[in-house]
Amino acid sequence: MQDESVVTNYHLEDDQLMDNTIRPESIDEYIGQEDVKENIRVFVEAAKMRNEPLDHVLLYGPPGLGKTTLAFIIAHELGTNIKTASGPSIEKSGDLAAILSSLEPGDVLFIDEIHRMPRYIEEILYPAMEDFSLDIIVGSEGNSRNIKIDLPPFTLVGATTRAGDLSAPLRDRFGITSKLQFYTVSELTDIIKRTARVLGVEIDNSAAIELAKRSRGTPRIANRLFKRVRDFALVKGNGKVDLAITEEALERLKVDKMGLDNTDHELLLAIIEKFNGGPVGVEALSSSIGEEVTTIEDVYEPYLLQTGLLKRTSRGRIATDKAYEILGIEKQ
Ligand SMILES: Nc1ncnc2c1ncn2[C@@H]1O[C@H](COP(=O)(O)OP(=O)(O)O)[C@@H](O)[C@H]1O
Ligand SMILES: [Mg+2]
Repeated sequence: MQDESVVTNYHLEDDQLMDNTIRPESIDEYIGQEDVKENIRVFVEAAKMRNEPLDHVLLYGPPGLGKTTLAFIIAHELGTNIKTASGPSIEKSGDLAAILSSLEPGDVLFIDEIHRMPRYIEEILYPAMEDFSLDIIVGSEGNSRNIKIDLPPFTLVGATTRAGDLSAPLRDRFGITSKLQFYTVSELTDIIKRTARVLGVEIDNSAAIELAKRSRGTPRIANRLFKRVRDFALVKGNGKVDLAITEEALERLKVDKMGLDNTDHELLLAIIEKFNGGPVGVEALSSSIGEEVTTIEDVYEPYLLQTGLLKRTSRGRIATDKAYEILGIEKQ
Protein backbone atom coordinates (compact mmCIF):
# COMPACT_ATOMS: atom_id res chain seq x y z
CA MET A 1 0.00 0.00 0.00
CA GLN A 2 2.86 2.34 0.77
CA ASP A 3 3.96 4.49 -2.13
CA GLU A 4 7.67 5.04 -1.66
CA SER A 5 7.83 7.85 -4.18
CA VAL A 6 5.71 10.08 -2.01
CA VAL A 7 7.68 9.63 1.17
CA THR A 8 10.56 11.48 -0.39
CA ASN A 9 14.03 11.69 0.82
CA TYR A 10 15.65 14.84 -0.38
CA HIS A 11 17.07 14.93 -3.87
CA LEU A 12 20.77 15.02 -3.45
CA GLU A 13 21.47 17.99 -5.64
CA ASP A 14 24.66 19.85 -5.10
CA ASP A 15 23.25 22.34 -2.63
CA GLN A 16 21.17 19.76 -0.93
CA LEU A 17 24.13 17.49 -0.49
CA MET A 18 26.01 20.29 1.21
CA ASP A 19 22.86 21.13 3.17
CA ASN A 20 22.89 17.68 4.66
CA THR A 21 26.51 17.85 5.78
CA ILE A 22 26.26 21.26 7.36
CA ARG A 23 22.73 21.10 8.68
CA PRO A 24 22.79 21.39 12.48
CA GLU A 25 21.37 18.24 14.09
CA SER A 26 20.53 19.35 17.61
CA ILE A 27 18.74 22.37 18.93
CA ASP A 28 21.90 23.62 20.63
CA GLU A 29 23.70 23.77 17.30
CA TYR A 30 20.85 25.72 15.70
CA ILE A 31 21.91 29.34 15.75
CA GLY A 32 19.47 32.23 16.41
CA GLN A 33 15.63 32.10 16.44
CA GLU A 34 15.89 32.23 20.23
CA ASP A 35 12.16 32.52 20.93
CA VAL A 36 11.25 29.67 18.63
CA LYS A 37 13.99 27.49 20.11
CA GLU A 38 12.99 28.23 23.67
CA ASN A 39 9.36 27.31 22.98
CA ILE A 40 10.31 24.11 21.23
CA ARG A 41 12.64 23.13 24.08
CA VAL A 42 9.85 23.55 26.61
CA PHE A 43 7.16 21.78 24.56
CA VAL A 44 9.47 18.88 23.68
CA GLU A 45 10.46 18.49 27.31
CA ALA A 46 6.84 18.57 28.48
CA ALA A 47 5.76 16.04 25.83
CA LYS A 48 8.53 13.69 26.94
CA MET A 49 7.59 14.08 30.61
CA ARG A 50 3.96 13.26 29.85
CA ASN A 51 5.02 10.52 27.49
CA GLU A 52 2.75 11.96 24.84
CA PRO A 53 3.52 13.03 21.30
CA LEU A 54 4.47 16.66 20.79
CA ASP A 55 1.59 18.84 19.63
CA HIS A 56 1.52 19.53 15.88
CA VAL A 57 3.90 22.29 14.82
CA LEU A 58 3.52 24.78 11.97
CA LEU A 59 6.71 26.56 10.89
CA TYR A 60 6.46 29.47 8.53
CA GLY A 61 8.69 32.08 7.00
CA PRO A 62 10.64 32.86 3.81
CA PRO A 63 12.73 30.14 2.12
CA GLY A 64 16.14 29.28 3.55
CA LEU A 65 15.53 30.38 7.15
CA GLY A 66 15.75 26.89 8.60
CA LYS A 67 12.28 25.34 8.59
CA THR A 68 13.33 21.94 7.27
CA THR A 69 16.35 21.96 9.56
CA LEU A 70 14.13 22.66 12.54
CA ALA A 71 11.73 19.85 11.62
CA PHE A 72 14.62 17.38 11.68
CA ILE A 73 15.87 18.87 14.94
CA ILE A 74 12.44 18.43 16.54
CA ALA A 75 12.52 14.70 15.70
CA HIS A 76 16.09 14.51 16.95
CA GLU A 77 15.18 16.15 20.26
CA LEU A 78 12.13 13.91 20.64
CA GLY A 79 14.31 10.91 19.88
CA THR A 80 11.95 9.72 17.14
CA ASN A 81 12.04 9.06 13.43
CA ILE A 82 11.00 11.56 10.81
CA LYS A 83 9.14 10.84 7.59
CA THR A 84 9.04 13.55 4.99
CA ALA A 85 6.64 14.49 2.24
CA SER A 86 5.84 17.68 0.43
CA GLY A 87 2.48 19.29 -0.35
CA PRO A 88 2.76 19.19 -4.15
CA SER A 89 3.88 15.55 -4.18
CA ILE A 90 0.72 14.37 -2.42
CA GLU A 91 -1.63 14.15 -5.37
CA LYS A 92 -4.18 11.55 -4.36
CA SER A 93 -5.89 10.92 -1.05
CA GLY A 94 -4.36 7.44 -1.18
CA ASP A 95 -0.90 9.02 -1.14
CA LEU A 96 -1.57 10.68 2.18
CA ALA A 97 -3.35 7.61 3.59
CA ALA A 98 -0.28 5.55 2.71
CA ILE A 99 2.06 7.95 4.45
CA LEU A 100 -0.12 8.16 7.54
CA SER A 101 -0.49 4.42 7.87
CA SER A 102 3.27 3.96 7.65
CA LEU A 103 3.87 6.01 10.81
CA GLU A 104 5.22 4.44 14.00
CA PRO A 105 4.19 5.68 17.44
CA GLY A 106 5.77 9.05 18.22
CA ASP A 107 7.05 9.64 14.68
CA VAL A 108 7.35 13.11 13.22
CA LEU A 109 5.66 13.53 9.87
CA PHE A 110 7.15 16.52 8.10
CA ILE A 111 5.09 18.00 5.27
CA ASP A 112 7.00 20.71 3.44
CA GLU A 113 5.11 23.36 1.44
CA ILE A 114 1.98 22.22 3.19
CA HIS A 115 0.00 25.12 1.69
CA ARG A 116 0.29 23.43 -1.70
CA MET A 117 -1.64 20.34 -0.67
CA PRO A 118 -5.05 20.13 -2.38
CA ARG A 119 -8.00 20.96 -0.09
CA TYR A 120 -9.77 17.61 -0.48
CA ILE A 121 -6.61 15.86 0.64
CA GLU A 122 -6.16 18.29 3.48
CA GLU A 123 -9.46 17.07 4.91
CA ILE A 124 -7.96 13.64 5.51
CA LEU A 125 -5.51 15.32 7.82
CA TYR A 126 -8.15 16.78 10.13
CA PRO A 127 -9.21 13.54 11.91
CA ALA A 128 -5.64 12.27 11.69
CA MET A 129 -4.35 15.33 13.53
CA GLU A 130 -7.20 15.51 15.97
CA ASP A 131 -7.99 11.91 16.92
CA PHE A 132 -5.16 9.98 15.25
CA SER A 133 -7.68 8.29 13.05
CA LEU A 134 -7.87 7.76 9.35
CA ASP A 135 -11.30 7.85 7.76
CA ILE A 136 -11.24 6.37 4.32
CA ILE A 137 -13.78 5.31 1.79
CA VAL A 138 -13.33 1.85 0.34
CA GLY A 139 -15.14 0.09 -2.44
CA SER A 140 -16.44 1.46 -5.68
CA GLU A 141 -19.22 3.92 -6.34
CA GLY A 142 -22.63 2.67 -5.24
CA ASN A 143 -21.00 0.10 -3.04
CA SER A 144 -18.67 2.16 -0.93
CA ARG A 145 -18.39 2.40 2.81
CA ASN A 146 -16.42 4.41 5.32
CA ILE A 147 -13.86 2.72 7.45
CA LYS A 148 -11.97 4.13 10.36
CA ILE A 149 -8.39 3.11 11.01
CA ASP A 150 -6.57 3.98 14.21
CA LEU A 151 -3.23 5.65 13.72
CA PRO A 152 -0.41 5.70 16.21
CA PRO A 153 0.06 9.04 17.97
CA PHE A 154 2.37 11.21 15.86
CA THR A 155 3.46 14.82 15.46
CA LEU A 156 2.81 16.65 12.23
CA VAL A 157 5.35 19.35 11.45
CA GLY A 158 4.19 21.52 8.58
CA ALA A 159 6.36 24.09 6.83
CA THR A 160 5.15 26.88 4.62
CA THR A 161 6.35 30.13 3.10
CA ARG A 162 2.79 31.44 3.21
CA ALA A 163 0.81 30.83 6.37
CA GLY A 164 -1.98 32.95 4.86
CA ASP A 165 -2.59 30.33 2.16
CA LEU A 166 -3.42 27.66 4.70
CA SER A 167 -7.11 27.04 5.23
CA ALA A 168 -8.39 28.10 8.65
CA PRO A 169 -9.41 24.56 9.69
CA LEU A 170 -5.92 23.26 8.97
CA ARG A 171 -4.18 26.20 10.65
CA ASP A 172 -6.34 25.77 13.75
CA ARG A 173 -5.24 22.18 14.20
CA PHE A 174 -1.64 23.12 14.87
CA GLY A 175 -1.05 23.56 18.59
CA ILE A 176 2.28 25.30 18.05
CA THR A 177 2.86 27.93 15.38
CA SER A 178 6.27 29.48 14.96
CA LYS A 179 7.31 32.22 12.59
CA LEU A 180 10.97 32.22 11.64
CA GLN A 181 12.65 35.61 11.40
CA PHE A 182 15.48 36.88 9.24
CA TYR A 183 18.83 36.42 11.00
CA THR A 184 21.04 39.19 12.33
CA VAL A 185 24.53 39.78 10.92
CA SER A 186 26.04 38.41 14.10
CA GLU A 187 23.97 35.21 13.92
CA LEU A 188 24.84 34.74 10.25
CA THR A 189 28.51 35.30 11.07
CA ASP A 190 28.28 32.43 13.56
CA ILE A 191 26.51 30.25 11.00
CA ILE A 192 29.20 30.93 8.38
CA LYS A 193 31.98 30.19 10.86
CA ARG A 194 30.25 26.97 11.82
CA THR A 195 29.89 25.94 8.18
CA ALA A 196 33.57 26.75 7.57
CA ARG A 197 34.53 24.64 10.55
CA VAL A 198 32.39 21.70 9.45
CA LEU A 199 33.82 21.85 5.93
CA GLY A 200 37.38 22.32 7.22
CA VAL A 201 37.96 25.74 5.66
CA GLU A 202 39.82 28.58 7.37
CA ILE A 203 38.00 31.91 7.36
CA ASP A 204 38.92 35.34 8.76
CA ASN A 205 36.48 37.02 11.13
CA SER A 206 36.23 40.07 8.85
CA ALA A 207 35.43 37.85 5.86
CA ALA A 208 32.72 36.01 7.79
CA ILE A 209 31.15 39.33 8.81
CA GLU A 210 31.26 40.66 5.24
CA LEU A 211 29.56 37.49 3.97
CA ALA A 212 26.98 37.70 6.74
CA LYS A 213 26.12 41.29 5.82
CA ARG A 214 25.46 40.25 2.26
CA SER A 215 23.36 37.17 2.90
CA ARG A 216 19.88 38.76 2.98
CA GLY A 217 19.37 37.60 6.55
CA THR A 218 19.20 34.02 5.25
CA PRO A 219 21.36 31.03 6.30
CA ARG A 220 20.87 29.22 3.00
CA ILE A 221 22.24 32.23 1.11
CA ALA A 222 25.07 32.62 3.64
CA ASN A 223 26.11 29.02 3.09
CA ARG A 224 25.79 29.28 -0.66
CA LEU A 225 27.87 32.45 -0.86
CA PHE A 226 30.42 30.92 1.48
CA LYS A 227 30.75 27.96 -0.84
CA ARG A 228 31.35 30.18 -3.88
CA VAL A 229 33.88 32.33 -2.02
CA ARG A 230 35.64 29.19 -0.89
CA ASP A 231 36.08 28.25 -4.56
CA PHE A 232 37.64 31.63 -5.30
CA ALA A 233 39.94 31.27 -2.31
CA LEU A 234 41.06 27.87 -3.53
CA VAL A 235 41.72 28.86 -7.12
CA LYS A 236 42.94 32.46 -6.71
CA GLY A 237 44.50 32.29 -3.25
CA ASN A 238 45.82 29.73 -0.83
CA GLY A 239 42.48 28.27 0.21
CA LYS A 240 42.01 30.55 3.18
CA VAL A 241 38.98 32.82 3.00
CA ASP A 242 40.04 36.39 3.78
CA LEU A 243 38.32 39.73 3.33
CA ALA A 244 40.00 40.65 0.03
CA ILE A 245 39.07 37.41 -1.69
CA THR A 246 35.55 37.62 -0.24
CA GLU A 247 35.00 41.11 -1.61
CA GLU A 248 36.39 40.16 -4.99
CA ALA A 249 34.21 37.07 -5.19
CA LEU A 250 31.05 38.88 -4.11
CA GLU A 251 31.74 41.58 -6.69
CA ARG A 252 31.94 38.93 -9.39
CA LEU A 253 28.80 37.27 -8.11
CA LYS A 254 27.05 40.64 -8.35
CA VAL A 255 25.95 40.61 -4.74
CA ASP A 256 25.90 44.21 -3.54
CA LYS A 257 26.81 45.66 -0.14
CA MET A 258 23.36 44.94 1.25
CA GLY A 259 23.25 41.45 -0.19
CA LEU A 260 20.79 42.40 -2.90
CA ASP A 261 21.10 40.43 -6.11
CA ASN A 262 20.13 41.13 -9.71
CA THR A 263 16.47 40.33 -9.24
CA ASP A 264 16.17 42.60 -6.19
CA HIS A 265 17.70 45.40 -8.25
CA GLU A 266 15.46 44.70 -11.24
CA LEU A 267 12.41 44.71 -9.03
CA LEU A 268 13.22 48.03 -7.39
CA LEU A 269 14.34 49.56 -10.68
CA ALA A 270 11.10 48.49 -12.36
CA ILE A 271 9.03 50.18 -9.66
CA ILE A 272 11.10 53.33 -9.93
CA GLU A 273 11.61 53.59 -13.68
CA LYS A 274 8.57 51.92 -15.20
CA PHE A 275 5.99 52.74 -12.59
CA ASN A 276 7.27 56.05 -11.37
CA GLY A 277 8.12 54.77 -7.89
CA GLY A 278 4.73 53.08 -7.42
CA PRO A 279 2.26 52.20 -6.17
CA VAL A 280 2.20 49.27 -8.54
CA GLY A 281 0.31 45.98 -8.27
CA VAL A 282 2.32 42.80 -7.91
CA GLU A 283 0.86 41.35 -11.14
CA ALA A 284 2.10 44.29 -13.21
CA LEU A 285 5.46 44.03 -11.50
CA SER A 286 5.53 40.32 -12.20
CA SER A 287 5.04 40.69 -15.93
CA SER A 288 7.44 43.59 -16.05
CA ILE A 289 10.38 41.67 -14.60
CA GLY A 290 9.33 38.18 -15.66
CA GLU A 291 9.17 36.61 -12.20
CA GLU A 292 6.19 34.70 -10.85
CA VAL A 293 3.93 36.55 -8.43
CA THR A 294 4.52 33.91 -5.76
CA THR A 295 8.31 34.18 -6.20
CA ILE A 296 8.12 37.94 -5.78
CA GLU A 297 5.90 37.61 -2.73
CA ASP A 298 7.66 34.71 -1.02
CA VAL A 299 11.30 35.15 -1.97
CA TYR A 300 12.04 38.77 -2.83
CA GLU A 301 9.58 40.99 -1.02
CA PRO A 302 10.02 39.83 2.57
CA TYR A 303 13.63 40.99 2.71
CA LEU A 304 13.00 44.22 0.81
CA LEU A 305 10.16 45.01 3.22
CA GLN A 306 12.27 44.11 6.22
CA THR A 307 15.13 46.37 5.11
CA GLY A 308 12.75 49.23 4.36
CA LEU A 309 13.44 49.42 0.61
CA LEU A 310 9.90 48.52 -0.32
CA LYS A 311 6.54 49.33 1.15
CA ARG A 312 3.23 47.59 0.64
CA THR A 313 0.14 49.73 0.55
CA SER A 314 -3.45 48.89 -0.31
CA ARG A 315 -2.80 50.34 -3.78
CA GLY A 316 0.38 48.38 -4.42
CA ARG A 317 4.13 48.40 -3.90
CA ILE A 318 6.15 51.57 -3.42
CA ALA A 319 9.90 52.06 -3.63
CA THR A 320 11.06 53.99 -0.56
CA ASP A 321 13.52 56.90 -0.43
CA LYS A 322 16.09 54.44 0.82
CA ALA A 323 15.65 52.41 -2.39
CA TYR A 324 16.36 55.48 -4.54
CA GLU A 325 19.37 56.18 -2.37
CA ILE A 326 20.99 52.75 -2.62
CA LEU A 327 20.33 52.59 -6.37
CA GLY A 328 21.80 56.08 -6.73
CA ILE A 329 18.69 57.45 -8.42
CA GLU A 330 17.52 61.02 -7.92
CA LYS A 331 13.84 61.13 -6.89
CA GLN A 332 11.82 63.26 -9.32
N1 LIG B 1 19.58 28.34 12.65
C1 LIG B 1 20.46 27.80 11.81
N2 LIG B 1 21.72 27.55 12.22
C2 LIG B 1 22.61 27.02 11.36
N3 LIG B 1 22.35 26.71 10.06
C3 LIG B 1 21.12 26.93 9.62
C4 LIG B 1 20.11 27.47 10.46
N4 LIG B 1 18.97 27.60 9.75
C5 LIG B 1 19.25 27.14 8.53
N5 LIG B 1 20.53 26.74 8.42
C6 LIG B 1 21.17 26.22 7.22
O1 LIG B 1 20.57 26.87 6.10
C7 LIG B 1 20.21 25.96 5.08
C8 LIG B 1 18.77 26.14 4.71
O2 LIG B 1 17.93 25.75 5.78
P1 LIG B 1 16.53 24.99 5.54
O3 LIG B 1 16.16 24.37 6.83
O4 LIG B 1 16.66 24.09 4.37
O5 LIG B 1 15.58 26.21 5.21
P2 LIG B 1 14.02 26.22 4.80
O6 LIG B 1 13.50 24.83 4.98
O7 LIG B 1 13.37 27.22 5.71
O8 LIG B 1 13.96 26.69 3.37
C9 LIG B 1 20.55 24.57 5.62
O9 LIG B 1 21.66 24.10 4.92
C10 LIG B 1 20.92 24.75 7.06
O10 LIG B 1 22.11 24.06 7.29
MG1 LIG C 1 12.78 23.59 3.49
